[in-house]
Amino acid sequence: MKPWTIAIDGPAGAGKSTVARLLARRLGYLYIDSGAMYRAVALLAQRNEVSPDEADAVSALTRTARISFQSDGDHQRLFLSDEDITEAIRAPDIATLASKVSAIPGVRAALVTQQQALGAQGGVVMEGRDIGTVVFPSAELKVFLTATPEARAERRLQEIQARGHVNATLESVRADQDERDHRDATRAISPLASASDALEIGSDGVGPEQVVEEIIQCIDARRRGA
Ligand code: DC
Repeated sequence: MKPWTIAIDGPAGAGKSTVARLLARRLGYLYIDSGAMYRAVALLAQRNEVSPDEADAVSALTRTARISFQSDGDHQRLFLSDEDITEAIRAPDIATLASKVSAIPGVRAALVTQQQALGAQGGVVMEGRDIGTVVFPSAELKVFLTATPEARAERRLQEIQARGHVNATLESVRADQDERDHRDATRAISPLASASDALEIGSDGVGPEQVVEEIIQCIDARRRGA
């Protein structure tokens, strides 16, 4: 059977990464975190001292950037040219900057082309904000993962603290999240939105394994033509 393309979209902190990674492992598919690519562009802009307000300059940087993924067992490492930037892109200031550069049409155009090339053969689980709506509008399965803002901020705080940012507080994470949610959902181009044919799943109080189980059941049912 032809391998499927699976899109997992949703706001920050809904648990997309864990679910997408587990799902890809279960299916033997490639996992791609498209948000990491926007973060790579943010890091590149920061290092080149290019402000996110300079849309043309950031777009030009994106077009020349050599962003690539390398698999590391179950996880994935992100490279900018030959440099491993897996940890560097997780800094909180890069999250904010990524949200800003992702509103630039030239940045999106360049990254969407790369994402489509990465998933061209199928057999991929790609997570992001516009995967089901823009990158792979004919994906065989689209999932939109949501959770309450409170639960998302809690999850995000734990992730950030686990990375050693021990001074982060729930209030600061929630404030950043609200600002980012607003920007991601209201930008003119490809705002965060659920595709009309997406399977919507709420992850409040539900573990990632359970969400993956629900997705697998949906895949099985669709393959049986149910
Ligand atoms: O998923 P993340 O938090 O790592 O994403 C970082 C930023 O990139 C997020 O604020 C929105 C943006 N993004 C996007 O616009 N489109 C995607 N497909 C993925 C991420």
